[in-house]
Amino acid sequence: MKIITVVGARPQFIKAAPVSRELRKYFDEKLVHTGQHYDDNMSKIFFEELGIPLPDYNLKIGSGSHGKMTGEMLEKLEEIYINEKPDCVLVYGDTNSTLAGALAASKLLIPVIHVEAGLRSYNKAMPEEQNRILTDNISKLLLVPTVDAEKNLKNEGITEGVYNIGDVMYDAVLMFKEISKSKEYLLEDLNILPNKYILTTIHRAENTNDINRLKNIIEALNESNEVVILPLHPRTKKFVSDYGLTFNENIKIIEPIGYLEMLMLESNAKKIVTDSGGVQKEAYFMGKPCITMRDETEWVETVEVGWNIIVGTDKYAIIDAINNFNPKSKQELIFGDGRASEKIVELLKKLMK
Ligand code: UD1
Ligand code: UDP
Repeated sequence: MKIITVVGARPQFIKAAPVSRELRKYFDEKLVHTGQHYDDNMSKIFFEELGIPLPDYNLKIGSGSHGKMTGEMLEKLEEIYINEKPDCVLVYGDTNSTLAGALAASKLLIPVIHVEAGLRSYNKAMPEEQNRILTDNISKLLLVPTVDAEKNLKNEGITEGVYNIGDVMYDAVLMFKEISKSKEYLLEDLNILPNKYILTTIHRAENTNDINRLKNIIEALNESNEVVILPLHPRTKKFVSDYGLTFNENIKIIEPIGYLEMLMLESNAKKIVTDSGGVQKEAYFMGKPCITMRDETEWVETVEVGWNIIVGTDKYAIIDAINNFNPKSKQELIFGDGRASEKIVELLKKLMK
């Protein structure tokens, strides 16, 4: 059986690391990189560090407006699918690469497998929410990571082809956590001590594209009285500069880092403050309190079990959570058992004959 996997953005490379390894034991997988993320530290570093197979195709479609990016991807993916004649196409998550990968396949009647299906923020202004809903509606196999994701689909009348396999990002953490310790030298390089710093990421469009939201976030970090490590996403870097915002000395801005460095910094952080989807989950896997600078989350179970708090972008709410938010409950296995990649293979063997 031939599978085409479409990736394009940082979190998708990380998800592909455990899944491609497993798929290639049994199937012929061709990897297409749309080029949505293209800087070395947003793309190449993950293929090198995590041993992800090199892409068979790189479409080099990065930047640009949503419509242009998605449209160009559609056109090129269609050509590849027609030539390669895959039995199915596998996509991850909710980016423009996800939607283009799924839609091009669906139009050619090639079955779509959506890994990380069923997530909802119920905020349709998010480009990711649009991508998720559309992708779920044209997928044949909807592989959900959580019980809530399954419920979301059920509420929309989608029940066929839905399987809860757990979260592939948990597989990735289990696969790389031990090796990530080899990056502990970075603590010394950054002149920080374990459990004495806050790790932050910011890149969500709703936060970067709105000067007031980004200003509030940066002011909160500036005034937090904490050492803050902030690997800066290129989108955010651009807006910080356009808006002329400045960071105080307690904030150490670094370039985006590799996944192993990131896991190491997460596991040694005191708290994690983020607007990322993946980082909210990783905070949970690492047993760290997570403060989410958004108005809602699709990872609702992390909030329900008390390990994640949604604070929006109110400066004082962020500072208060940095000072006072501490989970009181024990962790539960809400993201499966870390064998999601194996379960994908088992399902494909059974269902895609
Ligand atoms: C995308 C996804 C988002 C995901 C995020 C992961 C969509 C709609 N958004 O957001 O869901 O959470 O990736 O990080 O698909 N840029 C560079 N170099 C790069 C990549 C981006 O400079 O390697 C800059 C460019 O100015 C680009 C901007 O960042 O225009 C935004 O990149 P884009 O891929 O459109 O969106 P992200 O914010 O990265
Ligand atoms: N990540 C990384 N280096 C960084 C920032 C994030 O490797 O400098 C990893 C992080 O550990 C997680 C993934 O990127 O696995 C999350 O991606 P991102 O926050 O870009 O997107 P989202 O998950 O919000 O879609």
